[in-house]
Amino acid sequence: MVLLIIYVGVVVCMEMNSRGTPGGEYVTPGTIYFEASGYYRRKSLSSLPKTWWKLHTDGDPLWNRLQLPVDRYFSPILSPNNTKKGFKNDTFLESPLTQSFSDVVNSNGTSRNFTELPEQIKEFVRHMHRRDYRTVHQPSGVCGAGAQDQKENTLLLLAIKTTELNFKNRQAIRQAWGQVGWVAGQNSSGGYVRRVFLIGKEDPIELGVNISELLELENKHYGDILQWNFKDTFFNLTLKDVLFWSWFSRYCHRTQFVFKGDDDVFVNTANIVTYLQDQLKRPNARKTLKDFMVGDVIAAALPDRSIKSKYFIPESFYKGNYPAYAGGGGVVYSGLLAKRLHRMSKRVHLFPIDDVYVGMCMIRLNAYPIHHPAFLTFDFPGKEEEELCAYHKILLVHKRSPAQIVRLTADIKKTQAQCRDVPLRDGVKKGK
Ligand SMILES: *[C@@H]1O[C@H](CO)[C@@H](O)[C@H](O)[C@H]1NC(C)=O
Ligand SMILES: *[C@@H]1O[C@H](CO)[C@@H](O)[C@H](O)[C@H]1NC(C)=O
Ligand SMILES: *[C@@H]1O[C@H](CO)[C@@H](O)[C@H](O)[C@H]1NC(C)=O
Ligand SMILES: *[C@@H]1O[C@H](CO)[C@@H](O)[C@H](O)[C@H]1NC(C)=O
Ligand SMILES: *[C@@H]1O[C@H](CO)[C@@H](O)[C@H](O)[C@H]1NC(C)=O
Ligand SMILES: *[C@@H]1O[C@H](CO)[C@@H](O)[C@H](O)[C@H]1NC(C)=O
Ligand SMILES: *[C@@H]1O[C@H](CO)[C@@H](O)[C@H](O)[C@H]1NC(C)=O
Repeated sequence: MVLLIIYVGVVVCMEMNSRGTPGGEYVTPGTIYFEASGYYRRKSLSSLPKTWWKLHTDGDPLWNRLQLPVDRYFSPILSPNNTKKGFKNDTFLESPLTQSFSDVVNSNGTSRNFTELPEQIKEFVRHMHRRDYRTVHQPSGVCGAGAQDQKENTLLLLAIKTTELNFKNRQAIRQAWGQVGWVAGQNSSGGYVRRVFLIGKEDPIELGVNISELLELENKHYGDILQWNFKDTFFNLTLKDVLFWSWFSRYCHRTQFVFKGDDDVFVNTANIVTYLQDQLKRPNARKTLKDFMVGDVIAAALPDRSIKSKYFIPESFYKGNYPAYAGGGGVVYSGLLAKRLHRMSKRVHLFPIDDVYVGMCMIRLNAYPIHHPAFLTFDFPGKEEEELCAYHKILLVHKRSPAQIVRLTADIKKTQAQCRDVPLRDGVKKGK
């Protein structure tokens, strides 16, 4: 068994070796790096970093070692010219990532330590330099399902992460909160909504059946499938964000906002539309739109170190706090930001946890997600759900089954008159 693991490790390292392409020399092996490291105390932006400058050496975890030379390369202080150059030239952008990958992975210490990583992380590392997955299915021509002629004025694109097998979830979303068309009125208080599902591939051999044709039929019927040719696993979810940004930048020129979420959430789409229209009417909207992201923000989280967790990240892979990030159950951001994230993603090595990866790109854009207590990614607190207008006060709640999603949509219609004009929940408990 041990021999087998070592063998696999060696083979993988050799494979990585052969894939590394030579690029410009920008890092000398054995150099000692410096990096500012800090943390944000929960609900406080003014805390001082604990360590101002930290010495980095070869003993650092894999991801940190991979990213550090790239961050240095694009640092506006250390190399002001690269920062501008990089954003203009796409082919140039990818090479620092490739370069640091081959430098780090080929160094002696890494191949030795690689074999000690858990299997799921190893599988991630083996493929983390790849992003050029083929698009299997995509909506025809327009930015997701919706009328062809509404392309110009889409307020919101719903981009939902799902899997080939979750047909039921997609059907529920299509007839419930994911309906395309005008929402909350066909005028300046409402907005046009489109939809797209983000899907990877099941392995037909593991599954015992090839279901490719089903998805093709589904896309012919609904035109809302965006599928890529990579294996749909938890640690590959980041690819959906990265490849979605790329697709969005190409096909969704005039889409103002994106909702990105999971297929097991209930969304109050009308509230999101109203909330976004309100944001657009604010005096500084134009200035702030390029940074706009709102959701359930988790600040200064530490990597999960319990080996049984699906979020497990060993210390040998990543050290440090995570940047502030919006919980991936559902998050809303501007189309402008989606395009900036697309460009920034070419300067950040893939990370196995998708929400955290988005946070890593955000912090490098000097953009911070806004927290809104109407995103309930950990469900309603206490008995709040039992209140008559509970679902009228929220933007999103996790998690709900397909049957619940359909029922909730009907319930909301029934209570519409009674609950008209209730404000969004603000998280402040009454009577306190
Ligand atoms: C490999 O692991 C050893 C012991 O865990 C550590 O001392 C060393 O710094 C690590 N090397 C690298 C390159 O991570
Ligand atoms: C950066 O670019 C400017 C003008 O294009 C040039 O004068 C300068 O020498 C460059 N700096 C470096 C460090 O390459
Ligand atoms: C982009 O960078 C590559 C590699 O440095 C170079 O070969 C190519 O000519 C550049 N393209 C443009 C449009 O500047
Ligand atoms: C890697 O290890 C080999 C054999 O132990 C040694 O000859 C070589 O110089 C080492 N390379 C580096 C970059 O440390
Ligand atoms: C927009 O239309 C809705 C119904 O379609 C109506 O209730 C609302 O008053 C209208 N708002 C404006 C600003 O015209
Ligand atoms: C699965 O079916 C599709 C469509 O018929 C076909 O193109 C593809 O090659 C099949 N895949 C496998 C692994 O058999
Ligand atoms: C991600 O997808 C690739 C391509 O299908 C696959 O080879 C790899 O095993 C997947 N990675 C993980 C961590 O599952």
